[in-house]
Amino acid sequence: MYSEKVMDHFQNPRNMGEIEDASGVGTVGNAKCGDIMRIYLDIDENQIIRDVKFKTFGCGAAVATSSMATELVKGKPIQEAMKITNSAVAEALDGLPPVKMHCSLLAEEAIHAALWDYAQKHGISIEGLQKPKSDIHDGEESEEEVY
Ligand code: FES
Repeated sequence: MYSEKVMDHFQNPRNMGEIEDASGVGTVGNAKCGDIMRIYLDIDENQIIRDVKFKTFGCGAAVATSSMATELVKGKPIQEAMKITNSAVAEALDGLPPVKMHCSLLAEEAIHAALWDYAQKHGISIEGLQKPKSDIHDGEESEEEVY
């Protein structure tokens, strides 16, 4: 059912953890399955993603897609990171079963939410970036953020 790459990233997730004083943090949740993903970005003065970490409370595919998404954005300028879609993450994992595609969407959204947080903190706007739909702030439940 799962590709070897998915199993590998699930069993040996890359960049798991958190970044203290991150430039941007994004937390998103899927109201249906209840899974939550948080991405931390460390962005330098040239808007390059110097470091990235994730924490995911979710299914195996969510862990694997978080891991792959962090690998794809690490070292990239923020504009490049913006182009990484959920299907790019799924493709990089050699595919996901159709019922698990929403898990990769969580990875795309978590990155966007972290970039949004970074942009807000720095008073800048990032081309093509919109306010995340399912961003969850600390202490806030995701009830209204159904999509
Ligand atoms: Fe919810 Fe995978 S089942 S993120």
